[in-house]
Amino acid sequence: MPLLDPYGRKATSLRIALTPRCNLRCTYCHREGESAPGSEISKETAVCIAKAASELGFRSIKFTGGDPLMRSDLEEIISEMPEGLDLSITTNGIGLADRAKPLKEAGLTRVNVSLVSLNPAKYRRITGCRDGDLEAVKRGVDATLEAGLSPVKLNVVLLKENQDEVWDMVDFARRKGIILQLIELLDLKYLGISGDIRAVEESLRSKANKITIREMHRRRKYHLSGVEVEVVKPMDNTEFCANCTRLRVTSDARLKPCLLRNDNLVDIGTCDIPAIKDLIIKANSLREPYFKKASGPR
Ligand code: 5AD
Ligand code: SF4
Repeated sequence: MPLLDPYGRKATSLRIALTPRCNLRCTYCHREGESAPGSEISKETAVCIAKAASELGFRSIKFTGGDPLMRSDLEEIISEMPEGLDLSITTNGIGLADRAKPLKEAGLTRVNVSLVSLNPAKYRRITGCRDGDLEAVKRGVDATLEAGLSPVKLNVVLLKENQDEVWDMVDFARRKGIILQLIELLDLKYLGISGDIRAVEESLRSKANKITIREMHRRRKYHLSGVEVEVVKPMDNTEFCANCTRLRVTSDARLKPCLLRNDNLVDIGTCDIPAIKDLIIKANSLREPYFKKASGPR
């Protein structure tokens, strides 16, 4: 039986930021909601947290960052994870071409690759990348497929700047046999650069053969001919928060009940599994929908 928070929401997916380091500088990056990260979580601590979470009924772990590929011990971390968990990473894909196979062999199940534009100049402008990085990301996508990682998802944060590329992205995903995930920008810095996700969703709706709804966050999935497109729309979305099953771990090993809050973190500071279980239970009791209707806890 999974943990339930005070609002009756299950806690089944853990998201561990393994590092604040990243080789890109995306204009829109929310840095996983971390304010001032301290020292980087050790492999041992990450493994202990995973074991404790697994014993408490968590079913999946997603490794993020920064970029998790910045950790040269990522393969080791994954290979030491407890059995029976669904393990994934979210990465910008740089360096993935060489690591997809070893990661799969270490026990990784699936991958999300963030790719904000297919246009080299635009990609460079938004991410601050070096020449050739866009090609490296595309090779990374191919390598994940060759390695048998599944499903592979392409994460596209919708901006004013890339909105005209949505259908190119859909075609790219269809050609590769991967899932496209369109993500509404969390504009934490009030940059005013977000695209019009409602308009995009409307055009997806008109072209979809079928629309299904995922349990996680009640995310809508549009089934088009030969490709699936998921829309992640968290802003002011009470349904999204009401169906959140996530607990986060920051890159400096603190439990973080919500992406959008930094006032209720729980320090871990131990590698004792029973103690960590208690801390996870405490952090879970602090989980609260960020966007919610007026009524309080159940
Ligand atoms: N809003 C929405 N998504 C974001 N990501 C990074 N910054 C933001 C933001 N401000 C995405 C990345 C990646 C995932 C971890 O979060 O593109 O796909
Ligand atoms: Fe942020 Fe991801 Fe871009 Fe790195 S690749 S700067 S973590 S959005």
